[in-house]
Amino acid sequence: MKIQVWDKVVRFCHWGIVILLPLCWWSGEEGEMEWHQTFAYLLLALVVTRVIWGLIGSDTARFSHFIQSPRQVFGYLRQWPSQRTPHVGHNPAGAYAVLLILTLLSVQLTTGLFATDDILTEGPLYSAVSSDTASWMTWLHKLNFNLILAAVALHLTALLAYRLKGVKLVGSMITGYRKGPESAPKVASTAPAWVVLLVLLAGLGWGLIWPLW
Ligand code: HEM
Repeated sequence: MKIQVWDKVVRFCHWGIVILLPLCWWSGEEGEMEWHQTFAYLLLALVVTRVIWGLIGSDTARFSHFIQSPRQVFGYLRQWPSQRTPHVGHNPAGAYAVLLILTLLSVQLTTGLFATDDILTEGPLYSAVSSDTASWMTWLHKLNFNLILAAVALHLTALLAYRLKGVKLVGSMITGYRKGPESAPKVASTAPAWVVLLVLLAGLGWGLIWPLW
């Protein structure tokens, strides 16, 4: 039977992040700083939306639903893969990888607000801190990007490892559905979707208007 695994907000945020992260990297490398800011604000809107959705969203999206204690994670990792109970949503180990990626993205976006390229472009909060702090933020902004790359490489390796074991996860992140038992928990949400839409629209508006201003 087909069961729903990921709702629209999770999928929209995921694929938005996948598109915007390389665009942020490309524009930063090429010195296209107006584009860099636009893409970064759009990415910020998606990350903020995903974090809000992690608090109020559907079952598989909510942090409280998928984050388990380190003891449970070790217990899960000690089991042979064939003995593990299939999860609807993130498994206990994958949940921490999700947290890691969202944290690294947040660090990247926050440090960017204070960073400077020492030529023409400064983040909107650059003047709120001392030049030493801004230099440190800029250093962290560059270093942290490498950590994001490492985390994404780990993410893709895990997906490949699952695929080699015959578990296909990618399709469900596209369609939202995969095959599963009828007893599987439903992806339910009572969250007011308009809150998320509002945050997203505010971020999109800001991302497109601010750099032109
Ligand atoms: C820029 C690169 C990427 C980043 C930053 C990223 C980030 C993430 C994050 C944060 C999640 C958790 C989803 C959530 O709960 O919101 C996730 C899950 C997932 N991602 Fe990615 N992702 C990237 C690339 C990809 C690519 C290229 C694919 C497909 C080939 C992919 C497939 C998936 C799948 C299938 C899941 C669900 C895993 C599960 O079942 O637990 N991701 N990704």
